[in-house]
Amino acid sequence: MINLALETLLLGFAGEGAFAAPARAFFWGAEPHPLLRSWPEILGWQSHKGLADAWDRSGFARCDVPSGLWPLVMQLPGKARDEIHGGFAKAWDLVEPGGMLVAAMENGAGAARFEKDLAKVVGAVHSRQKHKCRVFGARKEIPSPAVMPEGWLDAGRRKPIPGTHFVTEAGVFSATKVDPGSQLLVESLPTNLRGKVADLGAGWGYLTDALLRRCPAVKQVDLFESDSRALDCARQNLAAQEAVLNFHWHDVTTGIPGRYDIILMNPPFHTRQMKDVALGRAFLNAARDALYPGGEIWLVANRQLPYEGVLDACGLLWRQVVRDPVFKVIHAVMPMEQP
Ligand SMILES: C[S@@+](CC[C@H](N)C(=O)[O-])C[C@H]1O[C@@H](n2cnc3c(N)ncnc32)[C@H](O)[C@@H]1O
Repeated sequence: MINLALETLLLGFAGEGAFAAPARAFFWGAEPHPLLRSWPEILGWQSHKGLADAWDRSGFARCDVPSGLWPLVMQLPGKARDEIHGGFAKAWDLVEPGGMLVAAMENGAGAARFEKDLAKVVGAVHSRQKHKCRVFGARKEIPSPAVMPEGWLDAGRRKPIPGTHFVTEAGVFSATKVDPGSQLLVESLPTNLRGKVADLGAGWGYLTDALLRRCPAVKQVDLFESDSRALDCARQNLAAQEAVLNFHWHDVTTGIPGRYDIILMNPPFHTRQMKDVALGRAFLNAARDALYPGGEIWLVANRQLPYEGVLDACGLLWRQVVRDPVFKVIHAVMPMEQP
């Protein structure tokens, strides 16, 4: 799927009125592009495993933690307001005095508004439009660089969900509250589950935390999650648990290693802002391939998502356990005898 914001970001460095591409650049939210091959030095940071793998496969250098000072920081800043404001503040920290921050976003994701927000803080912002996206850039002036507002610095920090023992970070799934679908799934789980468990798309660890509290016979859970920020929160949220926990920064659509007795999931169904049922389908196929005979899937989904046909095609026996006006919980079992 072509990322139009990425195309627009790179158009910002071509033709009349272009931003100058310096010798060294940092790319926040890095995604590979053929035009970047001619850039002398570019270091990327990417929290999503599939995109990080694509960046690596293209032969570019990547870091796990953004650091250093750069004459140019390019940014695809994400989609949630706090993630974007927090991301601007963190990226600004990486710009060396006299350097540039250049970001690109889709108009539909609020590009004009976020460009205006940045301009209010840094002063002059130079921008161009193409492909229903905007690319906009600001220079860190010498000797008095703009200072990012405390609200934006705070928006980018990991913080507790009020009234819970969980921490999250802006941009991860359900960053401000427990997801009601996940809560319904947990309330539907029998308390006597046991064996080896996998949590697919584990997010910041809610399902695993609740499972371990509800099912004392469970002693090991493997968490698979593609967003490294969410997985880091899960590590912190589950630090007090006594069970053996293995945290995998992993793209579940490529399948999962290992075999399991129980697989939990609230499958994702968006790629960028677009609804993408294929993602949930890929999660179910990965789960099917990883189940022992007699193994079980416990999943929650929005009621309109058509997963039942996928479960049939996977040869799993399933039943709907409960549904409310928005969600349904499904229990599926791998038959002992394969057809
Ligand atoms: C609906 S959320 C559920 C999160 C968590 N299990 C919960 O209940 O709060 C789906 C999760 O899947 C993750 N995800 C999306 N695509 C993924 C992929 N290809 N591989 C692994 N995880 C993925 C998302 O980052 C998100 O955390």
